[in-house]
Amino acid sequence: MGLDETAQKPHDRLGAHLAADMERVNELIRTRMASEHAPRIPEVTAHLVEAGGKRLRPMLTLAAARLLGYEGDHHIRLAATVEFIHTATLLHDDVVDESRQRRGRPTANLLWDNKSSVLVGDYLFARSFQLMTETGSIRVLDILANASATIAEGEVLQLTAAQDLRTDEDIYLKVIRGKTAALFSAATEVGGVIAGAPEEQVRALFTYGDALGVAFQIADDLLDYGGSSAVIGKNTGDDFRERKLTLPVIKAVARADEAERAFWRRVIEKGEQREGDLDHALALMARHGAMEATRDEALAWADRAKAALDALPAHPLRDMLSDLADYVVARVN
Ligand code: IPE
Ligand code: IPE
Ligand code: MG
Ligand code: MG
Repeated sequence: MGLDETAQKPHDRLGAHLAADMERVNELIRTRMASEHAPRIPEVTAHLVEAGGKRLRPMLTLAAARLLGYEGDHHIRLAATVEFIHTATLLHDDVVDESRQRRGRPTANLLWDNKSSVLVGDYLFARSFQLMTETGSIRVLDILANASATIAEGEVLQLTAAQDLRTDEDIYLKVIRGKTAALFSAATEVGGVIAGAPEEQVRALFTYGDALGVAFQIADDLLDYGGSSAVIGKNTGDDFRERKLTLPVIKAVARADEAERAFWRRVIEKGEQREGDLDHALALMARHGAMEATRDEALAWADRAKAALDALPAHPLRDMLSDLADYVVARVN
């Protein structure tokens, strides 16, 4: 047990509880993110990795494995694998989204260029596969390979769903299940698999990760409209500028009258955005209670995540995972 576990935020509490494991994960990340041959690689990876990040996904893997009594070393490799996959997708995502800020720093695509971000992202993906094979578990490879494909699918589906006002809540859910929840659920599932947990518990871990990931992305999408860039370490309003249909907008569009639809068509479909449009969009969302309705959905997913934990043995880590589900949504309360 670490110090002050009750006083901190759930993910700090998890971090304190898992501090020794997490230190090993960070050490493994530091050694494997380097490259002898291409100096650009450690420059870019160090920029992102040293900025920190919440390390949520590797903590999920460690927590799942430890909660089920795992005593070996492979959970460390799997946690690092998951963070590498995450970091690779962030490098690619910031190119695709033309983002300028990540983890409170300028993005790699801004500091270097798109080519570096794409190629270093590929390198990290490949490194993640080397790491996971070291566990010798085909089942784990299967889960993480599937998750990697699903993330890419989600990002590509989002390309065609963006700028299209017909994008509805079902499509949105498909997108975020792919681009975000797939890695959360893989992170928790492989923790259970490596621990040799019974199938019912592995399934529960998957369900927890999936619902947590969905709740997390809905909350993240709300923060893009309501958060402060100082808190989230990314620019707000990016989704609007990119004409991405996230849940608050989808809800506002569904409730729009004719004049409002004309506005959404102009700013989202035609991309003719002017000064004041973001504020007007926010006013329309407020008029239709779109933010509250979105937050309620995030809360419902957090509840589903917590309910899945009932199938797991009582353990301080189980309680922390439960609190974490509340916390990912509380960021937007
Ligand atoms: C960012 O994830 C990508 C999304 C799924 C929204 P995190 O918010 O977990 O990113 P870091 O690792 O803490 O920077
Ligand atoms: C997160 O998607 C990237 C992935 C999950 C692959 P977003 O584009 O919605 O998230 P941010 O806002 O850049 O972190
Ligand atoms: Mg992005
Ligand atoms: Mg994106």
